[in-house]
Amino acid sequence: YKRVTTKSLVDMKAQGEKIAMLTAYDYTMAQIVDGAGIDVILVGDSASNVMAGHETTLPITLDQMIYHASGVVRAIKRSLVVVDLPFGSYQSDPKEALRSAIRIMKESGAHAVKLEGGKEVKDSIKRILHAGIPVMGHLGLTPQSIYKFGTYTVRAKEDEEAEKLKNDAKMLEKMGCFAVVLEKVPASLAKEVAESINIPVIGIGAGNGVDGQVLVVHDLLGMTHEFNPRFLRRYADLHSEMTKAFENYRDDVKSRDFPSDQEQY
Ligand code: KIV
Ligand code: NA
Repeated sequence: YKRVTTKSLVDMKAQGEKIAMLTAYDYTMAQIVDGAGIDVILVGDSASNVMAGHETTLPITLDQMIYHASGVVRAIKRSLVVVDLPFGSYQSDPKEALRSAIRIMKESGAHAVKLEGGKEVKDSIKRILHAGIPVMGHLGLTPQSIYKFGTYTVRAKEDEEAEKLKNDAKMLEKMGCFAVVLEKVPASLAKEVAESINIPVIGIGAGNGVDGQVLVVHDLLGMTHEFNPRFLRRYADLHSEMTKAFENYRDDVKSRDFPSDQEQY
């Protein structure tokens, strides 16, 4: 396997090859995602929702992110592993941000970190980059700010927010970030941003004019069935498949069909 690096992602953009990114939060899932040739695995703070059942991404801790990331890193042979800096681990000051990023790199073995925001977190990003840690940006709908937004609807529909987003994307490129996620913004704006910078723009709910796509793996697999945003394409209906399997197992236990003579010692 030829490992994906931050540099190969930038090369992929230059060559017009789209980047496929998915989340994963554990060893077994990451092994399957990596084996399928997904370029980037994001250990997202969406683990707070998907793995822990919280309503938002805010409660997940740095220790918990490192636990998830460690399992993912042990599984991969090719994918680049990017880990979200969780809420509260980088906002108060650049030194804290660097300490958090260093903990992720040392304790999980991941390849890069991602954090939300533009100009507000500029000094933190600079500090992390100066330590040699690759940084992926995240603009648009940044879920750690959900209580500021008050809603999960599409961002940057107004000129002022769109202007700030364009400036933030340029700033992230100029500082040396290797990629940026754009979440839930108009496709026309996302395309404009992707065309205005040389680092890859990875979209989620940001249309087809960007350099790659990311989805939460449980959403793609159809395991979460109460979450139905327009941008989500489901590639399997595992909720039904798993429910059938569990029901069949239950019935086989109750009816004494399982285990059979061949399934015992
Ligand atoms: O945490 C996450 O899953 C993310 C992606 C949706 C980009 O940040
Ligand atoms: Na995230």
